[in-house]
Amino acid sequence: MQAVTIHGYGGPDVLRVQEVTKPRVQPNEVLVQVKASGVTTADALMRQGTPRFARLFLGLRKPKHTITGTGFAGVVVDAGAEVTKFKVGDEVFGETSVRFGANAEFVAVADNGVILKKPSFLDYASASLMCDGPLTSMNFLQYLGEVQPGQRVLINGASGSLGTAAVQLAKQMGAQVTGVCSSKNVELVLSLGADEVIDYTKTDFTRGAATYDVIYDTVGKSSFGACKRVLTQKGKYLSPVISIGLLFQMLGTSFVGSKKALFDATGLKKPEILKEMLRKLLMYIQEKKLDVVIDRQFPLEQAVDAHAYVESGHKRGNVVLAMGA
Ligand SMILES: NC(=O)c1ccc[n+]([C@@H]2O[C@H](COP(=O)([O-])OP(=O)(O)OC[C@H]3O[C@@H](n4cnc5c(N)ncnc54)[C@H](OP(=O)(O)O)[C@@H]3O)[C@@H](O)[C@H]2O)c1
Repeated sequence: MQAVTIHGYGGPDVLRVQEVTKPRVQPNEVLVQVKASGVTTADALMRQGTPRFARLFLGLRKPKHTITGTGFAGVVVDAGAEVTKFKVGDEVFGETSVRFGANAEFVAVADNGVILKKPSFLDYASASLMCDGPLTSMNFLQYLGEVQPGQRVLINGASGSLGTAAVQLAKQMGAQVTGVCSSKNVELVLSLGADEVIDYTKTDFTRGAATYDVIYDTVGKSSFGACKRVLTQKGKYLSPVISIGLLFQMLGTSFVGSKKALFDATGLKKPEILKEMLRKLLMYIQEKKLDVVIDRQFPLEQAVDAHAYVESGHKRGNVVLAMGA
């Protein structure tokens, strides 16, 4: 089968699209013929091997897993003897998490992992991206931020993968939403339901008069220190972008002060918890309260170009490898 492979850390050109052996299912696994697979900013960081401490689990000298990608959507074409939840022909989606391997024509997935049946109202491309922006932002806003109706929520990086989902989800949670993006993305962010938009090329939200109950800095371009002044008394600064500074701020604010800095690694949560959140997200999609914003689709052979585009830091929503969907 064709797959996107990686044998060393570096820029997009360390990737190769090449013929590799098709996976064989273990008794508890299904084999999925992949129709679409996400290329995310997290994938680009893992390809670079950054932050460096992430190499402790990615592989010290080179990546332990040689096929890239985590988010997938496709059709079950084989099932191990112990599989009870899925059968050949089922349309499914999910993520492989730290096992990677999703940027390929076929991927083997444990039937008790993060894999769900794909409803017909969700296309393959959107389904393959559910575990990036939508799932992460649901985790951050609902569980970490505990967003309540009427609260003021600011989404920094509102035009990215996490940000476009976050704007829509915060609105569903009844919040008053401020999105921060550049001039070219103002219309997009307003169309997703933001009540107000701040153009970061003209205004620094950390210096404004408004205060927020939750600041969700999806792109990690700010910091708890910079945002503290514009957080309400019990305000929370959430960021999915890990750094040593954020870890210290989390530790410090867990002991001192009423304003908190918070981080979580969504993909490392138990599959049952993630699947419960995905079911809720599916409900929002069915009710047309949530849309997965897709910027560009690339064929598998152009995975290097897809990574280069993601790495530019200026994608609008999501990027996906489409494989005959
Ligand atoms: N912890 C977790 O569970 C978890 C899970 C998934 C992802 N992540 C991490 O979350 C981060 C965000 O991922 P993502 O895919 O959502 O990001 P992204 O889509 O790559 O972000 C790109 C967007 O950010 C905007 N942007 C760039 N600079 C900005 C600034 N200074 N202020 C405001 N917006 C700015 C860009 O708009 P312009 O073009 O207008 O600049 C672009 O639309 C990544 O670091 C990823 O690794 C963490």
